[in-house]
Amino acid sequence: MSATGSDLPFGIDFGGTGIKGAPVDLERGELTGERARIDTPRPSTPTAVAEVFAELLERFPDSQGPVGVTVPGVVVKGVVSSAANIDKHWIGEDADRLFTDRTGRDVHVVNDADAAGLAEVRYGAAKGRRGLVIVTTLGTGIGSALVYDGVLVPNSELGHLEIDGHDAEKRAATSARVREDLSWDDWAKRLTTYYSKLEQLFSPELFVVGGGISKKADQFVPLIEIETEILPARLRNAAGIVGAALYATENND
Ligand code: BGC
Repeated sequence: MSATGSDLPFGIDFGGTGIKGAPVDLERGELTGERARIDTPRPSTPTAVAEVFAELLERFPDSQGPVGVTVPGVVVKGVVSSAANIDKHWIGEDADRLFTDRTGRDVHVVNDADAAGLAEVRYGAAKGRRGLVIVTTLGTGIGSALVYDGVLVPNSELGHLEIDGHDAEKRAATSARVREDLSWDDWAKRLTTYYSKLEQLFSPELFVVGGGISKKADQFVPLIEIETEILPARLRNAAGIVGAALYATENND
């Protein structure tokens, strides 16, 4: 039975500049309407962010189902244990409990790339694909989701592989392209190094390239020289919200 009206799940995408949320239709893997956006507070401590979540949820009184939240860090049983690109107060925070207590809703936190990976495998570029799919998100950092036969292996953190003595995301994320003003060609060379390493370690069936930059996939994905099939993400900026709502619904007890 599909969720309608009051039992609709809600997804929240917690990013470095904006916090976005919307109710999600899980039959279709789509937002049910316009998403709302609030600037990420500075500093983005867990308690400051919890206030924003409460405000976002108040804007959608019709959506009373489980709430999924993406976090750009490792999440084990609702507790955040890394914070490469976010406020360090997140480390050790029981985010499920904090957000559930603040909002009075059933909140489940999930790594941002894992959420995007779930959404792409269920509804997007990797829909129906068996075997190992690796979904990567290119942004401030590099996020990764390992999904095998549709089942997520969480917290893979492949953006932090050490390649040629460097943390991979420092060389190949979108932020590195911007910081170093790299041409598409030069960035694609770095991405070739990165995906070749993943290919060598995991022999996946398919790579999916997500993150905001995936809307410009035509400019760089064809320049990545690897053997494995590599496709741009399809859900674009809805992947985090949809994946978070899916995760919350499937992990709701
Ligand atoms: C973090 C990951 C996150 C990725 C994308 C990395 O720096 O360690 O947890 O998924 O950035 O936001």
